[in-house]
Amino acid sequence: MAKSTNSKAPTKKSAQKKSTSINADASSNFKPEDSKIAGTSPEKETGLQKLFADGIMDIYWAENHLVKALPKMINAAASPELQNAFTDHLEVTKTHVSRLEEVFSLMGKKPKAKKCDAMEGLSKEGEGTIESTDSGTAARDQGLIMAARKVEHYEMVAYGGLSKLAATLGHNDVSEILKQTLAEENEADELLTTIADNSNLPDAVVNDEEPK
Ligand SMILES: [Fe+2]
Repeated sequence: MAKSTNSKAPTKKSAQKKSTSINADASSNFKPEDSKIAGTSPEKETGLQKLFADGIMDIYWAENHLVKALPKMINAAASPELQNAFTDHLEVTKTHVSRLEEVFSLMGKKPKAKKCDAMEGLSKEGEGTIESTDSGTAARDQGLIMAARKVEHYEMVAYGGLSKLAATLGHNDVSEILKQTLAEENEADELLTTIADNSNLPDAVVNDEEPK
């Protein structure tokens, strides 16, 4: 990304209209010929810039929420392998929060969160799994893995889309930062899938309680 986006200190007026000021920064990198190549009108460019700004604030809220939610999942997990996976992902998630703060900085903005209804719902679903399963059972761990994988998939779609949007808007350095996080969400999803696949479910069915 061009350094010109960093040189603009946010003014009081711009702080009141964050998404529009991010639009203004992004447009400084967007050349008319780019819009011709992309086949988009100036109105569409504004829409993409707003979509990007909203998406970054949404995933920033989501990652911060996960930092609070993951300790509950660590405590609830039965197998040491799953506990370790969640513990590692908590540290990785803190890095994701820091990376998003870097993204805000590159856009010349202060970090701002916008409530992510989807992440709130997914995390409630995870809490519901804990309430509806007995501790130390395969059902608990399989439920936690499914809940966590739903979260990872939400994040993967968000980071994939935002990375592409950033590149389209001319913020290639931001796009690369978001790609890094996308790769780590992918890794987490694959690890959780492996843990689920390696669980000895036939034994668990014998040892587990009958479904209610
Ligand atoms: Fe994350």
